[in-house]
Amino acid sequence: MAQFEDKVLHELDGIKEYDNPMPGWLMAIWWGSLVFAAAYLGFYALSFGEGSMEAEYRAETQQSLAAVQTHFDAHPLVPPKAADLLAGAKNPAVLDLAAARFAKSCAPCHGAQAQGLIGPNLTDDRWIHGGQVEQIFQTIAKGWPAKGMPPWGRAMKPEELSALVSYVRSLQGSNPPNPKPAEGDPVVPEPLPGS
Ligand code: HEC
Repeated sequence: MAQFEDKVLHELDGIKEYDNPMPGWLMAIWWGSLVFAAAYLGFYALSFGEGSMEAEYRAETQQSLAAVQTHFDAHPLVPPKAADLLAGAKNPAVLDLAAARFAKSCAPCHGAQAQGLIGPNLTDDRWIHGGQVEQIFQTIAKGWPAKGMPPWGRAMKPEELSALVSYVRSLQGSNPPNPKPAEGDPVVPEPLPGS
């Protein structure tokens, strides 16, 4: 024991305790992680500096919005020909496709038979935004967001969009039960092919 005598730090009631400090490398890791944690907290969690989570989020949002815009610029919404939209109103395959989409996306506001609910009756001869197929296309594609009609042009495939126009045209004069009172101006619809 004699060789350890000079290392004794404490002695209490005859119990002797050696001084065993932590090795320097371990202390360095300890202090290093404290400093790192403080810097990390400030930088990321409290959002100081360029690389903060918030700055990163903003930059990435900007990037994806720009990518969406680039895609839209490269693929503009081309209105189909009126003749094709009118022909679609007599094509069962087109009408089936549209009926499924209408039930899912439009019926909640316009009613299952387009008789009108929150949105106007789409089967009568009065139109707020015009009842020619090209006008109906514009209404459905761009919507009237301020009036509660969402834009659908970017939310569905082009063939679904034009099928819906044909479908709405095909419902003209269908006289569903419980119609919402007519709104807008009277429109004489364009004739369908073969009628
Ligand atoms: C969130 C409710 C809502 C949904 C969903 C909705 N619409 Fe509308 N829609 C409206 C409202 C409200 C208007 C009336 C806008 C106005 O008063 O200017 C409208 C207007 C319209 C018009 C113009 C009617 C007119 O008289 O000029 C058409 C056509 C139309 N919607 C078709 C559709 C189609 C097709 C869908 C499904 C893809 C759809 N809407 C989904 C609420 C909706």
